Amino acid sequence: MTGILVTGGAGFIGSHYVRMLLGPGGPGGVRVTVLDALTYAAQPATLDPVRGHPGFRFVHGDIRDAGLVGRLAAEHEEIVHFAAESHVDRSIADGTAFVSTNVLGTQTLLEAARRGGVRALVHVSTDEVYGSLASGSWRETEPLRPHSPYAASKAASDLLVLAQHHTHGCDVRVTRCSNNFGPHQFPEKLVPLFVTNLLDGLDVPLYGDGGHVRDWLHVDDHVRGIELVRTRGRAGEVYHIGGGTELTNRELTARLLAACGAGWERVRHVPDRKGHDRRYSLDWSKISRELGYRPRADFDTALAETVAWYREHRAWWEPLKARAAR
Ligand SMILES: NC(=O)c1ccc[n+]([C@@H]2O[C@H](COP(=O)([O-])OP(=O)(O)OC[C@H]3O[C@@H](n4cnc5c(N)ncnc54)[C@H](O)[C@@H]3O)[C@@H](O)[C@H]2O)c1
Repeated sequence: MTGILVTGGAGFIGSHYVRMLLGPGGPGGVRVTVLDALTYAAQPATLDPVRGHPGFRFVHGDIRDAGLVGRLAAEHEEIVHFAAESHVDRSIADGTAFVSTNVLGTQTLLEAARRGGVRALVHVSTDEVYGSLASGSWRETEPLRPHSPYAASKAASDLLVLAQHHTHGCDVRVTRCSNNFGPHQFPEKLVPLFVTNLLDGLDVPLYGDGGHVRDWLHVDDHVRGIELVRTRGRAGEVYHIGGGTELTNRELTARLLAACGAGWERVRHVPDRKGHDRRYSLDWSKISRELGYRPRADFDTALAETVAWYREHRAWWEPLKARAAR
């Protein structure tokens, strides 16, 4: 039985990952401990489907708590590290919590993993660490040129994770993925913010000229990629996980308007985000070649299903939206 410590497992992607691990399609033979500080972004109810599983345990705590993290690391063979402050706009308003959790928190976890003899640690990161590019796609060897405080804090944590391998020979693996979408995403991120606003009859705010390009990745494909890296990845390696659908924000907005039966009069053009990266694009041929990863979701079908999910789960997102507005 492999003990897996999942940090940030009450968040959007972490909770999908935990439900996959302990669900019918999971690997079997694992016990899972979620460590989560339950910040504003946490949604503990998303773990309800696995709470009764004999292999599940929840610990309310902070990755910066060295004592707690040390005890937990010693009890587990593997760590999958999702916990982070994750919203770029919040990092522009104040980056302090981002440095504290994403950098110091990750370092605390690394020390605990090394001292506790953890067999492998997977660090979940982002394409935003590379900055912006006009054409082509980044490979894993690209230098990091982060622009936002969020991206800079994630880049710092990536480098600390990789240093753990170079310096101490620890088995650590880094994943960098593109923009996720799917059910249970906190309604401050673009897709759920736009969908829930449109369902409420409100306008949606489109940054600048709407020409910013992102690659869209369904959360289930992301989780599948992380699991491939946990089970078959190599120590000290970085793996890109992409979705294969690059769209400008205008193109995505058009699809969301259509899915919600709304027109362009509902779009409010707002001043661009400070330092807004123009385009992200990952080359994910390495994980495809080495680990057999392919995104399975058809983008338009998955987006329609996601919109339907938010339409049918008002009771889930209404309190979160109220919380985000405070
Ligand atoms: N959402 C995306 O599109 C995306 C894209 C690329 C990478 N990522 C990365 O994936 C990871 C998960 O992202 P998400 O969208 O699920 O984030 P999220 O904001 O939904 O969840 C983060 C979780 O971490 C927990 N947390 C925050 N600070 C903590 C601390 N100090 N100690 C313990 N727990 C803490 C929160 O309570 C929350 O449950 C992050 O590391 C993020 O950088 C996300």
